[in-house]
Amino acid sequence: MGRTPKLKVVEDKNLDNPGYPRIVGELWTAKQRQLHSLHYAISYRGSFKPELPDFCIRRYSRKGDVVLDPFSGRGTTALQANLLGRVAWAADVNPLSVLITQAKLNPVGLDEVVLRLNEIDFRRPIDLEGYQELFSPFYHPDTFRELVNLKKFLERENDAVNNFIKLLALSRLHGHSPGFFSVYSFPQISIPPESQRLINLKRSQVPEYRSVAPRIIKKAAQSLRDGFTSNFFDIASANRTEVSDARKMDWIPSDSIDLIVTSPPFLDKVDYLADNWLEFWFSGISPKKLKKTCVMTPTLEDWQTFISGVLKESLRVLKKHSYAVIEVGEVEKNGKIILLDEEVAQAARDISLPGKRFVVEEVLINQQKFTKLANCFKVDNNSKGTNTNRLVVLKCVGKPGRKKS
Ligand SMILES: C[S@@+](CC[C@H](N)C(=O)[O-])C[C@H]1O[C@@H](n2cnc3c(N)ncnc32)[C@H](O)[C@@H]1O
Repeated sequence: MGRTPKLKVVEDKNLDNPGYPRIVGELWTAKQRQLHSLHYAISYRGSFKPELPDFCIRRYSRKGDVVLDPFSGRGTTALQANLLGRVAWAADVNPLSVLITQAKLNPVGLDEVVLRLNEIDFRRPIDLEGYQELFSPFYHPDTFRELVNLKKFLERENDAVNNFIKLLALSRLHGHSPGFFSVYSFPQISIPPESQRLINLKRSQVPEYRSVAPRIIKKAAQSLRDGFTSNFFDIASANRTEVSDARKMDWIPSDSIDLIVTSPPFLDKVDYLADNWLEFWFSGISPKKLKKTCVMTPTLEDWQTFISGVLKESLRVLKKHSYAVIEVGEVEKNGKIILLDEEVAQAARDISLPGKRFVVEEVLINQQKFTKLANCFKVDNNSKGTNTNRLVVLKCVGKPGRKKS
């Protein structure tokens, strides 16, 4: 915790002058798992490394500031904000994300996890309806029975211990090592039962019994390893988490946020609903209700409209002279590479509110060599051997505003 990110940057002079500084460099370490152990409690589609919010929060805010992430995902910005002594406000249209974020902001002790798990009767007989069709490719029937009993127990009360156990259980639902409840499967995506059946055939595997409680306890010990300062818990009462659409955050008063660090969905690159069906089942969330708001924009025009709405709402909630850092990437659409940072910068310059507007302060491009892990998962972001995060840094200024040189 608290390692200062290296800042080794050069201005990119090869690119056309866009009217704002564009800086390329290795802004933080390419090494994996360098920050607080709780960040790695669960994987999430499209998540960024905690080094990204760590870098931005240190660079653009001060202790005690309110840091908002309106696309919270697995709560990376929120957790890092608290670890750095900032208040975390976080939202996502997906209740699963909000559940994860809340649990991370309210960690409990390992002893509390163990004691609570001891209260559960994992062996109670259950109704096996739906097991054969949906769950049998993933779980041994005894593992499934333990999971259903855990799910029912956790549904009874929403306290911090139950929520933290829910987070840990969600993280163990499917994956490729014996630490997961499922037979060998994908860790990042919950694949459909028919795809899992094919994997089982190919690998000649049958789900064996995997007891649930010891796996949760092991994950709890790993996630809580780095510990917390008393300051971390003092800040918690000022945190806020909400299920809400980033284009309409009525729960946030105007001019109340000191910094936004966020990453919106990139066109339709990730299907957050289909890819999480096991997580939705376990946490009792109906993905159908989210279809309209969980944004999947198939065309660039739709995405531009979406991002303009997000930026306008961000401008409303930001205090003057504060920053919004919007992380995007390059996406490939119909054989063309679209640099979404340019789209964000353009959209930001086109919007304004009475007495407020954005200026593009800088665009930071974090460029790193692929790690071995990224290569083995065939990460392809259209530029050979590198992996980039493009951070559009917007400053909220009064009208007429002047850009800092
Ligand atoms: C790229 S992910 C964010 C990942 C996050 N930075 C992390 O590290 O975990 C985008 C998130 O946007 C959420 N989302 C999609 N449409 C939304 C909307 N209209 N308003 C708020 N959140 C939305 C998705 O549920 C997803 O969690």
